[in-house]
Amino acid sequence: TKHYQVVGNPIAQSKSPFIHAEFAKQTQQVISYQRACPEVDGFAIEAQRFFGSGGLGMNVTAPFKLDAYNFADSLTPRATLAGAVNTLALQDDGSILGDNTDGYGLVTDITQQLGWTLKGKNILVLGAGGAVRGVLQLLLEQRPAQLVLANRTLAKAEALASVFTHLGPLEVVEFAALPAFPAGHFDLIINATSASLAGDLPPLPEALIAPETHCYDMTYGAQPTVFLRWAESLGAGVRADGLGMLVGQAAESFRLWHGVMPEVKPVMAALRQHLK
Ligand code: ATR
Repeated sequence: TKHYQVVGNPIAQSKSPFIHAEFAKQTQQVISYQRACPEVDGFAIEAQRFFGSGGLGMNVTAPFKLDAYNFADSLTPRATLAGAVNTLALQDDGSILGDNTDGYGLVTDITQQLGWTLKGKNILVLGAGGAVRGVLQLLLEQRPAQLVLANRTLAKAEALASVFTHLGPLEVVEFAALPAFPAGHFDLIINATSASLAGDLPPLPEALIAPETHCYDMTYGAQPTVFLRWAESLGAGVRADGLGMLVGQAAESFRLWHGVMPEVKPVMAALRQHLK
């Protein structure tokens, strides 16, 4: 049996054990995949224990993605730019590689599962925290016409944008500046503020939403998120939550560890049932 685990604090809510068990069944791998919940200052000790006792790969969630970035012996280019690691993998030489599969999960969900186009589109991203940093490179590589980051704290968005501006047409604004865009200007709006976890919405002008505005929330739940309900109430016809991003990032981790890309669709359907 090959040993894997997901590390976070809290961790009880994590769907990763379910997802990886489904992927393993699908591809006939024999694995164990556990949860671990170290103290908030205890990531490195837990990671040393795990890899020291034969663990092969680890997923990392809040609040440990920066700890995992620091723990890794080497980083993939996308993890370096993301400034965060969600996947650690033991290498043949005994070293630990850090990767970040969140951007892959988001972009493949949007372009492959949902079939939405990013190339040439005007994209608005709400928020400028770690969740956004993890996906900006992959979004910009899809060559949107424009990618606008709107954030409560402008300075934070500016600092973040400075890391990615060489990759594409990136702009930052405060929420208060959004009414200056023409009605329906954005083809796609991606919500990545942590406010929505608490059921809050940033102040958004209603004119952002036209019937064809595609709305994506990086969070998910049994019920539609507050952002998606807001968009629906204004007539947005095309909406999706972040369940597909979650399964997509897991699939890319699985591929990194096992060398085979699992099927995302059946696992998304099973997880959606599981949530109800
Ligand atoms: P995450 O890893 O989930 O992105 P984070 O790094 O703490 O978490 O970032 C949280 C994001 O949600 C930030 O963009 C934050 O805005 P600020 O940069 O201004 O703090 C945003 N956010 C959190 N609560 C918010 C609220 N009540 N209204 C608007 N934006 C909020």
